[in-house]
Amino acid sequence: MTDHVTDLIPAPGSAAWTASSPALCVLDERTWIDARPGTEGTAQWLRATVGAATGLPLHAGNAADADAQGDGGAATSRIVLAIDTGVAHEGYRLVADGPEIRIEGGSAAGVFWGAQTLRQLLGPAAHRRAPLTKGAQWELPAVTIEDAPRFPWRGMMLDVSRHFMPKDGVLRYLDLLAAHKLNVFHFHLTDDQGWRIEIKRHPRLTEVGAWRARTKYGHRASPLWDDEPHGGYYTQDDIREIVAYAAERHITVVPEIDIPGHSQAAISAYPELGNADVIDTTSLTVWDNWGVSPNVLAPTDNTLRFYEGVLEEVLELFPSTFVHIGGDECAKDQWKASAAAQARIKELGLADEDELQSWFIRHFDRWLTDRGRRLIGWDEILEGGLAPGAAVSSWRGYKGGIAAAEAGHDVVMCPEQQVYLDHRQADGDEPMPIGFVRTLEDVYRFEPVPPALNPEAAAHVLGTQANVWTEVMQDSARVDYQVFPRLAAFAEVAWSRLPAPAERDFTDFERRMAAHYSRLDALGVDYRPPKGPLPWQRRPGVLGRPIEGAPPNV
Ligand code: ACM
Repeated sequence: MTDHVTDLIPAPGSAAWTASSPALCVLDERTWIDARPGTEGTAQWLRATVGAATGLPLHAGNAADADAQGDGGAATSRIVLAIDTGVAHEGYRLVADGPEIRIEGGSAAGVFWGAQTLRQLLGPAAHRRAPLTKGAQWELPAVTIEDAPRFPWRGMMLDVSRHFMPKDGVLRYLDLLAAHKLNVFHFHLTDDQGWRIEIKRHPRLTEVGAWRARTKYGHRASPLWDDEPHGGYYTQDDIREIVAYAAERHITVVPEIDIPGHSQAAISAYPELGNADVIDTTSLTVWDNWGVSPNVLAPTDNTLRFYEGVLEEVLELFPSTFVHIGGDECAKDQWKASAAAQARIKELGLADEDELQSWFIRHFDRWLTDRGRRLIGWDEILEGGLAPGAAVSSWRGYKGGIAAAEAGHDVVMCPEQQVYLDHRQADGDEPMPIGFVRTLEDVYRFEPVPPALNPEAAAHVLGTQANVWTEVMQDSARVDYQVFPRLAAFAEVAWSRLPAPAERDFTDFERRMAAHYSRLDALGVDYRPPKGPLPWQRRPGVLGRPIEGAPPNV
């Protein structure tokens, strides 16, 4: 049997063989799961996933139940799940020793992360949805693992505006995040190219705003178009299902409603939201190009009331403390040209258009704070001053994050130079090669806490997230190709306490990746293989084709 203790990803804090015999724990038809209070969700997850992969019933009950009901005698083994408040909050201790496998977590989440480790210990086939052979015996080594995450915010952002990902795909991604012990799903729901969440009081947001006539094929400089209509949205019940499914996996869904820029889809649906004295907003359509649209929200009371209405529905659907309001890449040309916007600047006593953007953000900062939530936005929101509880997603490098942390704001580090997974992962032969080259090793050597921060400021780094913008990812296969294997390296950066970047043992990570590729195969992930031919070279129509006549990159 391959010993999967030595190939866990993300690497645990410590793992040692338990000094007893037998050296193996066995799962079979007579294995019981004894779920102590607060851990029932993990028992259910184990039964649904490991139960399906192994074909084993994984009976529910304690030791007495097992002995009384065991078919032909006592249980072979018991998986005991318990909360032990002596363990770190999301941490766990996993002790497998003879007939007993104990997972003790500092919280229900800790127990769940321990169960993810248990699945890895059983081998890649434990990640499938049905057993390959009937009656197989499942073994894991007798080990003691102590583990806890480095950061409380270990996230991935998915842009479902540029390309819509149907609900099933989102649920699948939540499973993939959980398999990597990631616990935040930042859901980028609105942008110029599509509005993706049903809002009951403003039905045109999805009737009109969720659909575009055509799509730029490739990067923004490409001369090619896909002339098929594209769109889709999540109903409020879809959102409830996604949020509940995430919660069962101890993942928080942070919704993003992007304002005041990246709003062309909303303005196409409700022209009164735009700067109607500058352009004919009634003739706007959902954007069919990439980049930064000039169409931004008009700074009116009507706009504020409209988005308060949107956010009231968003707060009912998403229990997350943090609500993301975007705030990035706000083009100011229309405000400069608009007599109404200029009058508003004067009336509010603001200096210029930059302060007008801050006025938008501060309004929703207060609005969310009054409702017991906290605003988070892209680092541009720092420019006009923020309320004390607001937090920043630092995307334009580390700079915004450093300034925010030094000013006492919480920060999520997601610099585009390091963890934008839409960017190509090799030189030369990538489909749709955009952005910086960021290899698996580059991501593995990403450090979320810049050394420039003193300990007090560093404590404001809540964690990190990888961002997945989908301009060049038209379907799940393309998303998988960009995200994997780099998300595995990212997960280890977010979870494990790795040494400084230059000292990280990438050779050992690559060795463990050999097993992890087998897990990803079992999970059905279309990752970028470590060696060619690459899938897009075999199936150019699926993963992209070279763009004739266009510059090679942006
Ligand atoms: C961003 O990449 N515009 C946050």
